[in-house]
Amino acid sequence: MKPALRNGATDGPALSADGLGKHFGERVAFEGVSFEIPYGEVFGFLGPNGAGKTTTVRTLGTLITPTSGSATVAGIPLTPENGIEIRRRIAIMPETPGVYERLSVLENLECFAELYEVTDPKARIESALRAVNLGERARDPCGALSKGLRQRVALARALLGDPEILFLDEPTAGLDPVASRDVHELIAGLGRRGVTIFLTTHRLEEAERLCDRVAILNTSLRTIGRPAELRDALFAKALTVRTVAPLAEPGSVFGGLPGVDGWRRDDGGAYVVAVSDAEVAAPAIARALVGADADVLSIGESRHSLEDVYLELIDEDREMGRR
Ligand SMILES: Nc1ncnc2c1ncn2[C@@H]1O[C@H](COP(=O)(O)OP(=O)(O)OP(=O)(O)O)[C@@H](O)[C@H]1O
Ligand SMILES: [Mg+2]
Repeated sequence: MKPALRNGATDGPALSADGLGKHFGERVAFEGVSFEIPYGEVFGFLGPNGAGKTTTVRTLGTLITPTSGSATVAGIPLTPENGIEIRRRIAIMPETPGVYERLSVLENLECFAELYEVTDPKARIESALRAVNLGERARDPCGALSKGLRQRVALARALLGDPEILFLDEPTAGLDPVASRDVHELIAGLGRRGVTIFLTTHRLEEAERLCDRVAILNTSLRTIGRPAELRDALFAKALTVRTVAPLAEPGSVFGGLPGVDGWRRDDGGAYVVAVSDAEVAAPAIARALVGADADVLSIGESRHSLEDVYLELIDEDREMGRR
């Protein structure tokens, strides 16, 4: 269990949106977006290029004002008057984080700590540097850092104010697998400490690994839920059966078994058996295969990934000409 409440937060949601939207002139960036995110959740915000993710982050982060709907951030209604109060409780790591190239890591953080009017800046800077594991490079000029290290400086900058809610806009874009893993561990660690995280990403395996729930946005919200729920809602359950040799009469093996709704052979020669209840179907299939003298290699559950869910929904949008 995560420590759900920090910094005296109330028991309402950390973030809520109700019919939220933003358009720029004729162009709709996003519209009709509604959700509630409890404190302590790591929430993934997915969607293709131009879907409105960054604009949503900028709106919730008080950088731009919505053109429709309403929202609360850290329990505070999102209005221009409340901007300062909200910004005190949140931090945003933008898509292209800015650092002063000629200043060292430490000088950058000192500069931003002053700008954010952080109380006890020395301790906060130390703690942020420790969190992103940059202590050893603190004296290096930012201009001399690799992309991954700069990303960590940007994360340290976002952590200076000890935010209740952290918006991360594609924090691992362009990072190599090792640097990405470091950032993932950092995010997971912040999540465990109870920081609410709103994470946009194009890396679906990242969302699957890190996020309690995800939303898929394509100008409007397409779906929202736990990755496993989304998979179950969108795809029928299936078992994959592999045998050493093709079955002589697959129809008579799979036909009429309890919990089995149908079957087909996939391109790799495995049998994909649609089932209503895997716990009933799997033992029945095993018995039927043995009864048919088949040499079984494996019977396993077909796993759909979050990527399958994403592609299914976004392809559907394309076919419907929604975008
Ligand atoms: N300041 C602006 N003025 C006009 N249009 C804008 C502005 N900011 C964003 N848009 C438009 O709003 C839409 C959503 O953009 P946004 O940057 O939010 O997408 P995104 O989901 O973050 O995409 P990406 O994955 O490429 O980062 C796009 O069509 C974009 O061109
Ligand atoms: Mg973006």
